[in-house]
Amino acid sequence: MMETPLPDLEAILLVGGRGTRLRPLTLDTPKPLLPTAGVPFLSHQLARARAFGVRRIVFATSYRAEMFSEAFGNGEAFGLELEYMTEEEPLGTGGAIRNAAKALTCGPDDPVLVLNGDILSGHDIGDQIATHVARGAALTLHLTEVDDPSRFGCVPTDDDGRVTAFLEKTPNPVTNRINAGCYVFTRSVIDTIPEGQVVSVERETFPGLIEDGALVLGYADASYWLDVGTPAAFVQGSRDLVLGRLVSPALPGPTGDFLALPGAMISPEAKVSGGSVIGARAIVESGAQVGGSVLGDDCIVHSGAVVVDSVVGIGARVDCGAVLRDVVVGDGAVVGPGNELLAGSRVWPGVVLPESAIRFSSDI
Ligand code: GDD
Ligand code: MG
Repeated sequence: MMETPLPDLEAILLVGGRGTRLRPLTLDTPKPLLPTAGVPFLSHQLARARAFGVRRIVFATSYRAEMFSEAFGNGEAFGLELEYMTEEEPLGTGGAIRNAAKALTCGPDDPVLVLNGDILSGHDIGDQIATHVARGAALTLHLTEVDDPSRFGCVPTDDDGRVTAFLEKTPNPVTNRINAGCYVFTRSVIDTIPEGQVVSVERETFPGLIEDGALVLGYADASYWLDVGTPAAFVQGSRDLVLGRLVSPALPGPTGDFLALPGAMISPEAKVSGGSVIGARAIVESGAQVGGSVLGDDCIVHSGAVVVDSVVGIGARVDCGAVLRDVVVGDGAVVGPGNELLAGSRVWPGVVLPESAIRFSSDI
């Protein structure tokens, strides 16, 4: 029996931001390309979009635009058709959507999926699109609940799911429901965004549509959701994928306590757990502990070092007895023996921290 053919859906992926909160990881690599659970972050979003019937995706790029086409090419490997539309100067989320829409092929009444490029979400994209189409909405926003809505777009709705206001990063949120960064637009609505100008969908387009009386729907659910915009969230996302808390068709191995990439060498006397990723050819020596962390390719964690909830960059080195919790070590950096870094520390790429001269009384 033939499967029901899926609609030939088109999507726009917003990937032009600079990812400043993730520095130093994003000094050379855009946030959506950071290795996450063993593959570039976007691989997880692309694979999910594909699974829901998306066939063609237009990347709205700006910062380090060329790196996206180098990573994903024409999309064949994903069973997708990929196009790249680049803004010379970033046009904001709305300007980017308008610019990318030039490469869409669908008609004015068709639904177009728009995705923020830094989200991991387990929601049913197909059902969101079906709801949008069934109710004849102009725009349907995926909504989720978070503890601190002031860092997001706060989105109140009425009893019918109609969005009544859009309050971007307000200090006085009226609900914990926020914009989860996955939209279904009716194509003709995108064409009303002014062309070639800096426009924010969150601050201009969405409030404008609501004010004009257009049908803007909220699609609320309680599935897995994470914005990986900070180092702590980035590490959490990688960990959750490895542990299987969010299923991704792009995970390059079985789910489990950790994911070791090809050539990784983990001593049987090391303790590696909590959804850690050990990069290709990376070395974890005996007595080292790695928990819930992302170790880049070719890095070394020497014996007795402790790495928890942290990122260790490509080719970086963590020497004997060093302790890292919630720390980012840039590519090629060295954390010398015995250093215990404060949570939140960021070691810039290539920096060498010498051996710690401080001794703890318990070690003397
Ligand atoms: N092409 C392009 N051009 N992309 C851009 C631009 C631009 O000028 N500015 C931002 N983007 C992309 C980013 O790369 C990212 O994928 C997405 O747009 C959202 O930008 P963020 O910088 O991550 O925004 P945010 O996390 O502070 O807030 C947004 O996401 C929240 C959910 O995670 C907003 O949409 C909030 O309303 C929402 O709650
Ligand atoms: Mg974000």
